[in-house]
Amino acid sequence: MAKPMAIEVYNPNGKYRVVSTKPMPGTRWINLLVDQGCRVEICHLKKTILSVEDIIDLIGNKCDGVIGQLTEDWGETLFSALSKAGGKAFSNMAVGYNNVDVEAANKYSIAVGNTPGVLTETTAELAASLSLAAARRIVEADGFMRAGLYEGWLPHLFVGNLLKGQTVGVIGAGRIGSAYARMMVEGFKMNLIYFDLYQSTRLEKFVTAYGQFLKANGEQPVTWKRASSMEEVLREADLISLHPVLDKTTYHLVNKERLAMMKKEAILVNCSRGPVIDEVALVDHLRENPMFRVGLDVFEEEPFMKPGLADMKNAIVVPHIASASKWTREGMATLAALNVLGRIKGYPILSDPNRVDPFLNENSSPPNASPSIVNSKALGLPVSKL
Ligand code: DGY
Repeated sequence: MAKPMAIEVYNPNGKYRVVSTKPMPGTRWINLLVDQGCRVEICHLKKTILSVEDIIDLIGNKCDGVIGQLTEDWGETLFSALSKAGGKAFSNMAVGYNNVDVEAANKYSIAVGNTPGVLTETTAELAASLSLAAARRIVEADGFMRAGLYEGWLPHLFVGNLLKGQTVGVIGAGRIGSAYARMMVEGFKMNLIYFDLYQSTRLEKFVTAYGQFLKANGEQPVTWKRASSMEEVLREADLISLHPVLDKTTYHLVNKERLAMMKKEAILVNCSRGPVIDEVALVDHLRENPMFRVGLDVFEEEPFMKPGLADMKNAIVVPHIASASKWTREGMATLAALNVLGRIKGYPILSDPNRVDPFLNENSSPPNASPSIVNSKALGLPVSKL
């Protein structure tokens, strides 16, 4: 028997039924769906992570599309249930979609949306915040003050790392990795070393131009280098930020052996996905190398941390908040809603993560298109250049 659920309903007589498994920030996403004839149902169940069974109950017998979260297990069972209910689309309210079995969605001809483009700078800013907080031991120092331990200025009190002139290493120089690299190079005059299968010409040009600017002003120019292996980055960088997608090839990318390659006083930042780091090996490494520091937004088995991590003073841990700025979260909700709406209406797919702005402009109607459907090719959906 279906469990009772706290559901908020907008436009009860709407032609299409769209379910959101969580309340999402802002109201624009609701208005956009309602304006185009959708009945919107928002689940307010007081449970952080919904189970597959909870979501099956939400889907019910008739459901045209679902907006869901990265904590949910979107596989065969849910896509089959959505397909039986007449559903055409699912969108994660996230850019990452490692919680989604896209093959299973393809089997049931269900479009899978994600929300790229809108969280690039926000996520890069959090990676930069963790970098600074780790370098200057801000969380430790804050705890010290609050504990009433401050007795006066001392020459050795919370001495950390100066970033200027050091090398920032970026593993995965896609949109977020590149934005982070630019922040650290421009903001803190760091040299860059990056590893990515693809050359980031734009990023290289940026660092070259900034280096020339510094030189022209009598300052030490910044430099860049594209590493031929990830290990090269690990050995050379003073601060390393991880930005790969999580798949079989990046699972435990940073393991015991690779941690050992890093400088003893290096800083490691992860705002990508937790399983990219072997967290047990990391705890051992932090214990054995007190000057090594880490800033983590994501964890191997969220919401849990591996034993010992929470006790490490040289670790800064935050609860997967890299995309948590108001503008970004509202934008993610809007893109997710438009992904689902576009498929229900049969609109084409835009899929240009660098051009999501027209969908986010509050002063005009969004284009009649889905912003980002990851399996559009597999489903043979029409793609528009607008
Ligand atoms: C994403 O969108 O994949 C992020 O991890 C959410 O913050």
